[in-house]
Amino acid sequence: MGAGAVNAAVTIRRYAPADLDAVLGVFRASIEGLAAEHYNSEQRAAWMAAADDACAFGKMLEKQSVLLAVMDGEAVGVASRAGGLLDVLYVAPQAARAGVASKLCDALESEAVEAGFNEMRTEASDAARAFFARRGYAAAKRNVHVRKGVQLENTTMIKRLDVEVPA
Ligand SMILES: CC(C)(COP(=O)(O)OP(=O)(O)OC[C@H]1O[C@@H](n2cnc3c(N)ncnc32)[C@H](O)[C@@H]1OP(=O)(O)O)[C@@H](O)C(=O)NCCC(=O)NCCS
Repeated sequence: MGAGAVNAAVTIRRYAPADLDAVLGVFRASIEGLAAEHYNSEQRAAWMAAADDACAFGKMLEKQSVLLAVMDGEAVGVASRAGGLLDVLYVAPQAARAGVASKLCDALESEAVEAGFNEMRTEASDAARAFFARRGYAAAKRNVHVRKGVQLENTTMIKRLDVEVPA
């Protein structure tokens, strides 16, 4: 399926607490299915453990501006913003490379501009670095996190929101 076809079929709407299970499903499937090239199984398990406490995950989302991408009634992507931080971004493997994350980020970056932020930052996983680079985010620093005793690296990337990025 081409990106145009999926883009047309994808609806973006605001997250509600009743969506939590669907979001946790997208989160786990995304890490398992789309991050294996950059993170080994032990690292993916440590990353996914953030969803073990569903209640805490839900509370974290409720403090942020969260958008859901829905296709044929099914959640296929989730993204969140906390001020000028693009925090959560996960797409289900069956909807990958079809413009879902682009659509979610377009909406959150527009929200951030409206809220008066002139830059957006994110901690991009190695699986998402090319995606963010394509959107005009520049690498600022490398981060090392330890979760469940396992080392996970990512990169802080920053985009000016008041500068047009050539397509
Ligand atoms: C990174 C991620 C969110 C991208 O979602 P997506 O919906 O597939 O992205 P899009 O279709 O909007 O991609 C837009 C463009 O970004 C670039 N891009 C996206 N994924 C890419 C990849 N895996 N490798 C290289 N470039 C990529 C491409 O230029 C793509 O355009 P194209 O498909 O026409 O070539 C998704 O792969 C994902 O959920 N990964 C696992 C979880 C993760 O790492 N989340 C980020 C946490 S910070």
